[in-house]
Amino acid sequence: MKKILLAGSTGYLGIYIAKELQQRSYFFRAIARSPEKLAKNDIEANEILKAELTDPDSIKKCCEGVDIVISTVGITRQKDGLTYMDVDYQANMNLLIEAQKSGAKKFIYISVLNGEKLRNLKICDAKELFVEQLKRSGIDYCIVRPNGFFSDMSEIFNMAKNGRIYLFGKGKLKANPIHGEDLATFCVDAIEKPDKEVEIGGPETLTQNEMASMAFKVLGDKPKITYIPDWIRVAALKLVKLVTISRFYGPVEFFMTVMAMDMLAPEYGNHTLKEYFTILNNADAKKLRL
Ligand SMILES: NC(=O)c1ccc[n+]([C@@H]2O[C@H](COP(=O)([O-])OP(=O)(O)OC[C@H]3O[C@@H](n4cnc5c(N)ncnc54)[C@H](OP(=O)(O)O)[C@@H]3O)[C@@H](O)[C@H]2O)c1
Repeated sequence: MKKILLAGSTGYLGIYIAKELQQRSYFFRAIARSPEKLAKNDIEANEILKAELTDPDSIKKCCEGVDIVISTVGITRQKDGLTYMDVDYQANMNLLIEAQKSGAKKFIYISVLNGEKLRNLKICDAKELFVEQLKRSGIDYCIVRPNGFFSDMSEIFNMAKNGRIYLFGKGKLKANPIHGEDLATFCVDAIEKPDKEVEIGGPETLTQNEMASMAFKVLGDKPKITYIPDWIRVAALKLVKLVTISRFYGPVEFFMTVMAMDMLAPEYGNHTLKEYFTILNNADAKKLRL
């Protein structure tokens, strides 16, 4: 059985990948800077390495005896004062160097759908720079390009809960977001598959209007949607860039850009957005990031 090193094991997707590895009885070593998050999520890795991927010394020899490296590492909501270049690029580079030194056979990296077309965004540029290095590394690789995660769709649900959803344009843009559990199955399958680069989304393609109506329906409320003209989005983006630091601007820039385009990937998985919104509604009191 192949030995796996999982980096990003404490994140939304990483937790589902760890559970999938566990369920399939893979031997896996988890790198975590906060190992207590693993225990909290009932993850029992065969080995845990407490380390900071941004500090190359702390991950020395982390890939020893490992066949496959999986990395979901990247900045989403972290507020560590680091840039996408520090984490999405450099931290993954530190890991790739260790994988090369130890002779790991394959590196599975989670990038983002349309990342190569959105290199004007800081997050995508950092990720794609790493993708370029990975492709040149000589290690076999699989670059997974997922659509938006259900965890981010909670923003739509939260707007509905607050009484009104704001959408750009006319709400007709389409996307097929994916649940972490479905994506984790796909990522673990990639261990044995020959694909080098794959786009992937959830099983349902919906317009933003359909997602908004679904959120209100789950809440049992009448839909209240405000449509924001695109020129306001463009002006707001410019303003946010002027008056905020890149740590704040980066996630806003990404969100406001992908909400203004169709985000479509091959459909996969079973989890539906309605089911997710229903769970969010029921679990709301517990404030879980599901
Ligand atoms: N969310 C989406 O809609 C979406 C869509 C497409 C692609 N992606 C990409 O998919 C990947 C996984 O997303 P996710 O939602 O699972 O993200 P997440 O929950 O924020 O998990 C990211 C992981 O990276 C680690 N990390 C972040 N900053 C770090 C740092 N400075 N040093 C060491 N580790 C650090 C986190 O560790 P801690 O737990 O210690 O913070 C966590 O384990 C990301 O690269 C993301 O950009 C996300």
